[in-house]
Amino acid sequence: AFNLRNRNFLKLLDFSPKEIKYMLDLAADLKKAKYAGTEQPRLKGKNIALIFEKTSTRTRCAFEVAAHDQGAQVTYLGPSGSQIGVKESMADTARVLGRMYDGIEYRGFGQAIVEELARYAGVPVWNGLTNEFHPTQILADFLTMMEHTDKPLNKVTFAYLGDARFNMGNSLMVGGAKMGMDVRIVAPKELQPDAELVATCKAIAEETGAIVTITDNVEEGVKGCDFLYTDVWVSMGEPAEVWAERIKLLTPYQVNKRAMELTGNKNCKFMHCLPAYHNLETQVGRDVYKQFGMNGLEVTEEVFESENSIVFDEAENRMHTIKAVMVATLGD
Ligand code: CP
Ligand code: NVA
Repeated sequence: AFNLRNRNFLKLLDFSPKEIKYMLDLAADLKKAKYAGTEQPRLKGKNIALIFEKTSTRTRCAFEVAAHDQGAQVTYLGPSGSQIGVKESMADTARVLGRMYDGIEYRGFGQAIVEELARYAGVPVWNGLTNEFHPTQILADFLTMMEHTDKPLNKVTFAYLGDARFNMGNSLMVGGAKMGMDVRIVAPKELQPDAELVATCKAIAEETGAIVTITDNVEEGVKGCDFLYTDVWVSMGEPAEVWAERIKLLTPYQVNKRAMELTGNKNCKFMHCLPAYHNLETQVGRDVYKQFGMNGLEVTEEVFESENSIVFDEAENRMHTIKAVMVATLGD
């Protein structure tokens, strides 16, 4: 077995394919045990700090429920109310929290911040989303893929459509490369991932047998896919002014009935990390509708609510996979 004890979980680039598979299998085991009522608490007496400099529903709840199920306690530090960032540096915060807590989750802005936190904390630090990476999300996504196909991950083909310069596009590309998958990043030239990260992923692919494709061609990108994945066109922390430009660039990349049909696979599943803008039930959805007349942005209501949509399985799996990360790095 693998020993991930005391490791940080900051980005998938830091882990081998076998280590990633180990966490996925552990998550599947923990999920089974929870359903069967046989879960054993392996985080008893542990104290965990949850730092959120950006808002969250899934990630925060997943960490809290997972910790509770495993016998640990949590403290939530929200976007306001602590000294972080305003009155105290991350290095000092890390050294303080490291004296009190056994593990620290961080959601915020630059990846460099969570890396700094990890450098000074002296206890495992887990990335709950940065601008650049969202690694716990990918574990949930891959567990969900494993549940919805008979294929091993290295035979799976999937495409990410959308702004590919941030956390989701980056992390799906890295995860796909690590796990030997056929991963297509489908985005207009302006919104394609950083060339250096693409080169890194292509080098990983050489070793794992993955195929990493970056394309602005939707037909080519989605053909033969088992899964189509998308994310919001404007991420947390970005100004509302960028909507106009994003809508212009990304409307051809919307996941709608046509994109699903272009896969040529009736069983192709739709995935989204959530939250999603697929109707007018959100403030942002309504604002954008008023300005641009779009009802449904990165995905249409029709696809989101279709039988092929597995987004709520993904959301549930955030909890089981985050539990696996904490148990693997901190568990007795
Ligand atoms: N997918 C995800 O990270 O959701 P939250 O922003 O609600 O945590
Ligand atoms: N790209 C999105 C992901 C949310 C889970 C954001 O950063 O807001």
